[in-house]
Amino acid sequence: MATLIIDGNSYEIAEGTRLTTAIEEQGIDILHRCGGNAKCTTCKVTFNSGEPEAMNDAEKAKLEDKEALGDYRLSCQCICEGTMDVNVLMTMTSTGLDDAGPELSKTI
Ligand code: FES
Repeated sequence: MATLIIDGNSYEIAEGTRLTTAIEEQGIDILHRCGGNAKCTTCKVTFNSGEPEAMNDAEKAKLEDKEALGDYRLSCQCICEGTMDVNVLMTMTSTGLDDAGPELSKTI
């Protein structure tokens, strides 16, 4: 199991779960407006600790395009592993949007 920490609350998550899915399953209305395809960046998170070292090509290309490498990560392209303490940056609540985005598959 992986441990996900959000706002000081700790959750046990199956290793390999897509991070966006894990966040959503804890009742947090994180956005994923492109459906988890590394196109929109609305699923962005920052890490207090436990940031994955690996970054796939799709995430890297999008972050480079946005000149945001090192600023945040795309949770739709990250999987849960170890202990991750994350900050969710865009939610339905914080943006006023009434739709988080298309349903995500469980894995990337
Ligand atoms: S859901 Fe669009 S980039 Fe992650």
